Amino acid sequence: MAKKPTDLDPSDGLIVDEVGAWAAEKHDRLRKYIDAYRSVRALYLPPKGTGGAGYIELFSGPGRSRLKGSNEFIDGSPIVAYKAAQQSRTRFSDLHFNDLDPDKSSALEKRIAALGGAGHFYSQAADAVVDKIVDALNPTGLHFAFLDPYKLEVLPFSIIRKLAAIPKMDMLIHVSVFDLQRNLRRYVAEGDVLDSFMPNWRGSVDVNRTDHGLRTDLLDYWLGEIRKLGTSPAEGIELVSGPGGQRLYWLVFVSAHPLGRKLWEDIRNINVQTRLL
Ligand SMILES: C[S@@+](CC[C@H](N)C(=O)[O-])C[C@H]1O[C@@H](n2cnc3c(N)ncnc32)[C@H](O)[C@@H]1O
Repeated sequence: MAKKPTDLDPSDGLIVDEVGAWAAEKHDRLRKYIDAYRSVRALYLPPKGTGGAGYIELFSGPGRSRLKGSNEFIDGSPIVAYKAAQQSRTRFSDLHFNDLDPDKSSALEKRIAALGGAGHFYSQAADAVVDKIVDALNPTGLHFAFLDPYKLEVLPFSIIRKLAAIPKMDMLIHVSVFDLQRNLRRYVAEGDVLDSFMPNWRGSVDVNRTDHGLRTDLLDYWLGEIRKLGTSPAEGIELVSGPGGQRLYWLVFVSAHPLGRKLWEDIRNINVQTRLL
């Protein structure tokens, strides 16, 4: 079978991902969070502080995407974040971007450089690179990780545990409901994906519940495990829906400190969403 030609952005000749129009919503929330957090971030940057403010993506993509079924190109989350910090006049001190696909990683590096930025770029499995990134971050800084995997299986709980070990680490996590919905019964029967995503889940949920009930219980259990790390998910979990109303993601904000959660409360209500919890 002929290989699908690689999509290039005509504005820079570099590769792009293909995304649905709903991607813009997660980017809006990311942008607003970075802007709202500017004065807190400034406390960790010279001249006020020295701990630093890191921005981390473990599933970065190439930095630009083409909207499915169109010739319209939009920024990917790393570029959205970079520009939002620049516009807020409070840049991140350290950028750490990883994507398993080296072509995407390299395209992103060129795009950040074209904006005058520099960072650390990796191309490894997220669960391996997280150690390197955590080691590189100043533990007294204020850091923010945006985790946006396609599938649950590449987001083992060990990643969240390692990031949450840094005292001031906020995280915005996309959990693919689409994946959980489509593969729920297989995941339950086989066990390995859920064992890695939310260890010890089996003793804590009733697998005989309806699919909807079971999904909600699994998410509850996962959030409970995050709370045990000493950090806590914000109450609001947004369901980002596709144009046909299909469920795509849970958008989960995790912050170790009350101010982060308060800011998120203000930001999450971009438009009316279905609330799960
Ligand atoms: C949903 S996309 C990221 C989109 C990006 N956050 C944005 O909004 O522009 C997920 C990315 O994860 C990468 N990926 C897949 N498996 C991975 C793994 N195990 N570790 C790191 N990256 C992975 C894929 O190559 C893909 O680019």
